[in-house]
Amino acid sequence: LEAIAQTKDEFPLKGIVHLWSLETDVWELATTQELTCRSILNLLQATPALLKLPPLWLVTQGVMGTGDEGTSLVSNAAETPGDRTTNMQPQQALLWGLGKVITMEYPGLDCRCLDLDPNASEEETLKVLVEEVVRHPVSKGNVSTNTENQIRYRQGARQVARLTQAKLETDTKLVLENQSSYLITGGLGGVGWEIAKFLVQQGARNLVLIGRNAPSETATESIQQLEKAGANVSVLLGDVSKEKDMVDIFQHIQTSLPPLKGVIHAAGVIDDGLLQQMSWQQFTKVTAPKVEGTWNLHKLTKDIPLDFFVCFSSITSVLGNPGQGNYAAANAFMDGITQYRRHLGLPGLSINWGGWANVGMAARMEAQQQSRLQSQGFQSIQPEQGLQAFEEVLAGNQAQIAVFPVDWPQFLTQFGSMTPALLSDLASQFDLQAQTNHGPKLREFLEELKRTTQEQRQRLIIDYLVSTVAKILRRSKTDLPDPEEGFFNLGMDSLMAVDLSRRIQADLGISLSSTSTFEYPNIQSLADYLEELIPSSYDPQAESETPEVTINSEDILSGISQLSENEMEQALDEALSELDLLL
Ligand SMILES: NC(=O)c1ccc[n+]([C@@H]2O[C@H](COP(=O)([O-])OP(=O)(O)OC[C@H]3O[C@@H](n4cnc5c(N)ncnc54)[C@H](OP(=O)(O)O)[C@@H]3O)[C@@H](O)[C@H]2O)c1
Repeated sequence: LEAIAQTKDEFPLKGIVHLWSLETDVWELATTQELTCRSILNLLQATPALLKLPPLWLVTQGVMGTGDEGTSLVSNAAETPGDRTTNMQPQQALLWGLGKVITMEYPGLDCRCLDLDPNASEEETLKVLVEEVVRHPVSKGNVSTNTENQIRYRQGARQVARLTQAKLETDTKLVLENQSSYLITGGLGGVGWEIAKFLVQQGARNLVLIGRNAPSETATESIQQLEKAGANVSVLLGDVSKEKDMVDIFQHIQTSLPPLKGVIHAAGVIDDGLLQQMSWQQFTKVTAPKVEGTWNLHKLTKDIPLDFFVCFSSITSVLGNPGQGNYAAANAFMDGITQYRRHLGLPGLSINWGGWANVGMAARMEAQQQSRLQSQGFQSIQPEQGLQAFEEVLAGNQAQIAVFPVDWPQFLTQFGSMTPALLSDLASQFDLQAQTNHGPKLREFLEELKRTTQEQRQRLIIDYLVSTVAKILRRSKTDLPDPEEGFFNLGMDSLMAVDLSRRIQADLGISLSSTSTFEYPNIQSLADYLEELIPSSYDPQAESETPEVTINSEDILSGISQLSENEMEQALDEALSELDLLL
């Protein structure tokens, strides 16, 4: 990157296209994670060399199915390493989860996920890629395609992601067989244990609970109560991410317990941190139970006639959450695997849960983190609500469904005028300005900035920052922060600093790096910096629009197709040696 930065006058860097995912294989998960996620972590952590990254395309091919996995099934697929019976590449889904967090932690970075059609010809694929990268397709309808950052191509059609409300049958009843076994990984954890009790209520008589640690005294007493109610509970110790542990456990189930009919994968850990500081060890600690773990469960059950295979995923892989890049990637992998299983004619459901109240990892979160999520409009799932939703979604036919109570207007206003394209259909159902008064106030503020003198401008910016920082810190109007006091003395942590950058970008259309609050460590110095960035005749609309790129993709494609293979290799060699010289 430093070498490229040196050539910036001659060859300005216009974009980075990440294609390494295309080289990965679901049977090689360690290398897959290195090529997809570690390479991106390295890139992001090296960015000080470039100061600001140009647009970043995370390219995959065949992550998602056709969208009709519930009805169009391929049965008896011979699935072995290297086999290409299906063109789906679920392992590349890791990058889609990571991409959503990149977008949040780096508000100034234009990061897009692009899933190419695995069944398209090489020529078509190249054309689509060049079209997307060098010439953003023109706007359609009321959403500018320039703002789309989750795109896939299937059978020549460009499709974009939208979150929509699902319609569920509400009078369904889960009926479980007393002569079958049901397995829950993480079954001694908060949510896993709620599900275990629920399965027994619904008729299950043989439960297998998997965890790495023996049950505590309280857990043992609870298990005894479940056994008094007529259930046979086997606690089997093992690490779901270790193939050997899982082979032993499955052997035990096969030889000593009634036939396995259902799997609920609820094992998981979190270890949050911003991508800029995240070590690879921290990343893989969180992906292990969900990536290697899910794949082990898939391999060991694919020949067993299961009624259900449910992954407990998180809303983080759908919406992103700053500080959870590792967790989002891990959960996105599970979302990919359940679609893949459906494609193979096997049961699969990924539930993207919001935070549960009172039990499990969300309930153990620090108060500060919980209040941050609440201030964004997220509400907790009461255990009885969660169990009811579980029953309903299990009866449905989706491969993936999100369950999360949220105050939509409150949630959507955090994006200001820059609602993510994914949420644009939902957002159109609400009158956000009427709900919040945020819009008119902000417009007045921006208008005033244009009219005012230099001195007043600074006062206005400081006032804006004081009230924004107060909101993030959840302080009252009588306890406003001192502009000279350091952000971290005021109680801001790194996630709040990211929230501040995102809020400023949403309000003023100015992108700040996630490190701005370190470089400008109090309101006063940040205001000085913002004053330089806000042009005196400020037009927020113009700022937020991506400039049209004028390179002609047809020229590039015809240029490439006119080269012989030797000429292409030679051109590539020359470009690489030029780069080598600089390094
Ligand atoms: N709670 C929520 O609000 C929420 C929201 C969204 C998604 N989820 C998902 O729902 C699942 C359950 O969450 P929870 O809140 O119940 O978490 P939890 O209370 O922390 O329980 C997780 C369980 O997973 C087990 N586990 C972790 N790593 C394992 C491994 N490698 N092999 C085997 N077992 C392992 C842990 O036991 P050992 O440490 O003994 O192994 C623990 O019992 C997780 O996958 C989580 O991502 C939860």
